[in-house]
Amino acid sequence: MQTVLVIHNILRWAVLLFGLWTVFNAISGVSSKRAFSASDNRSNLLFMIFCDIQLLVGLSLYFSNSWFDKVKEGMGVVMKNGYDRFFAVEHASMMILAWILVHVGRTSVKKAGTDAAKHKKMLLFFGLALLLILASIPWPFRSEIARPLFRGFN
Ligand code: HEM
Repeated sequence: MQTVLVIHNILRWAVLLFGLWTVFNAISGVSSKRAFSASDNRSNLLFMIFCDIQLLVGLSLYFSNSWFDKVKEGMGVVMKNGYDRFFAVEHASMMILAWILVHVGRTSVKKAGTDAAKHKKMLLFFGLALLLILASIPWPFRSEIARPLFRGFN
């Protein structure tokens, strides 16, 4: 499972890169009132694809690294331990919520009638998803739940 953890760690950078590109495109689209371009579509498609892959990898870690077993043993115990609560409950649920926002966002951007509406929806849904993702990553500065920025295969 160390390899899967390394993959989950690396994929975080791809998710953040495409998330930032999407939000940057949305801000420039809203402020300049330009047409909705192929680059706008490509950025949020790649953001969605990497969120999908990250979800699958995250779920496999969740079920193989005994986080789900901890939840089954009793929520009362899990919620009392900050480290277990973060990975077994908060990280997983917030990331799934972000993944839902990305999917709903992509459909709603596609359905929007005007280019201005597409840019606004892109900013709203993908901006919120990116904020949730940024807030739910176990960054090294988050003392109790800190994880490294990069991880080796050893
Ligand atoms: C955009 C979505 C996500 C991002 C950016 C993300 C990012 C991360 C990062 C950076 C770590 C620490 C990796 C390390 O220690 O090197 C981590 C750990 C973890 N993530 Fe995610 N994650 C995402 C989604 C998910 C989802 C949807 C789940 C499960 C439902 C999940 C389950 C886990 C688990 C269980 C761990 C701890 C693994 C262990 O040490 O046993 N993640 N995640």
